[in-house]
Amino acid sequence: ATAQIGVTGLAVMGRNLARNFARNGYTVAVHNRTTAKTDALVEEFGDEGTFVAARTPEEFVAALERPRRLVIMVKAGDPTDAVIREFAPLLEEGDVVIDGGNAHFEDTRRREKELRERGIHFVGVGISGGEEGALEGPSIMPGGSKESYESLGPMLEKIAAKAKDGTPCTTHIGPDAAGHFVKMVHNGIEYADMQLIAEAYDLLRRVAGYSPAKIAETFRGWNTGRLDSYLIEITAEVLAHTDAATGKPFVDIVQDRAEQKGTGRWTVQIALDLGVPVSGIAEAVFARSLSGHADLREAARELPGPSATPLAEAEAAAFADRVEQALYASKIVSYTQGFHQIRAGSEAYDWDIDLGAVASIWRAGCIIRAAFLDRIRAAYDSRPGLVSLLSDDEFAQEIGAAQDDWRAVVAEAARQGVPTPGFAAALSYYDGLRADRLPAALTQGQRDYFGAHTYRRTDREGTFHTLWGGDRSETVAE
Ligand code: 6PG
Repeated sequence: ATAQIGVTGLAVMGRNLARNFARNGYTVAVHNRTTAKTDALVEEFGDEGTFVAARTPEEFVAALERPRRLVIMVKAGDPTDAVIREFAPLLEEGDVVIDGGNAHFEDTRRREKELRERGIHFVGVGISGGEEGALEGPSIMPGGSKESYESLGPMLEKIAAKAKDGTPCTTHIGPDAAGHFVKMVHNGIEYADMQLIAEAYDLLRRVAGYSPAKIAETFRGWNTGRLDSYLIEITAEVLAHTDAATGKPFVDIVQDRAEQKGTGRWTVQIALDLGVPVSGIAEAVFARSLSGHADLREAARELPGPSATPLAEAEAAAFADRVEQALYASKIVSYTQGFHQIRAGSEAYDWDIDLGAVASIWRAGCIIRAAFLDRIRAAYDSRPGLVSLLSDDEFAQEIGAAQDDWRAVVAEAARQGVPTPGFAAALSYYDGLRADRLPAALTQGQRDYFGAHTYRRTDREGTFHTLWGGDRSETVAE
């Protein structure tokens, strides 16, 4: 037994993670169901570090120092269970099984419990940053027991991305599935960020009348300010790209149907269960889904409505500035919603998640990495009990300063027939929260009318029901 860590499942993410461990000086046992992949890894990258190629699960387990640390990098779902079934009988008490896939956190809870009963630590780890991140330093979100983090943490800290101040982008998120839960919400926020950027692009194109190249330039400008982020940066790259075959902007030759693997959808499903209003994230998931319904879109093509007319050149630049404000304000809202969901999950499952630490490890390595996250970290660090990001003085002040432009953009989009579900949902969330009175009072009245569902009064304690079908007198409900 010579290897400090093992990786089984050597598709691109697994292979790059194994290389990352090896490049950082660890001896890495590598295993794959078909041995050709194992051989290829050692042949191509063997000089990057020390690999131990294992042909069978038995060889793989035997190659690992005890307590064993083995990382599973296979497709989430049944393939993960199959690998666990295969390896668990070969393991001993105290060993640490790490699942680095995009697992559903409920699966992680179940697996953790099953393995814990056998004395094995199961650590669900969210890994973000795509192929390049896995190799060069991802953001890593490990759950599982504190004890497992003692043995695994230092290795993860070594291979993780480092924030500008040198802090590793990993930390023990919390017990059992806390890591996969946080990764799920990361992806929900990723969907929202992408949708908001897409809306900004659409407005700049159709209302400001900018070309994709000009929008790329605009985004590059934004990327030097408060919107500085990986997603804005790559958006500029995608928009500046020209299709070689046709000479057209790349964005114009791609079919406008967005796909998804499911993590954004999970975020929304779980938010519904937890009762957390993640409307911005939900609209991002729905926007992808709408784009894919070719039949509905075809059937609706002739419906009346404006088609956007670009503004005069003199007004376009000012409009673009307003779009930047709308994008920034909406982004504050989607992070507010995502962090609310993490807080709610943490309370529901007793994970005791440190929200400032989450923001801290998202500062580098992951897809949503952004200068902005340093601000969120600071907000939670200075007030750990912060109920909402919108109650942080700085964010409140910024969103307040952006709101006039934000409203103007949503109004202009509605006038010109450009869909902005993300911007509009974020604005409604903002207005909903700051409203003095909500029409929810009327909803309660309707519920009481048709279903005797009762209501509470503003002026005294208790639960009441009005006899709507009778003399409309009020009764005290049980
Ligand atoms: C990451 C990404 C990664 C992946 C997702 C999203 O954090 O590195 O989120 O997990 O790209 O699978 O993919 P979809 O858009 O296909 O859902």
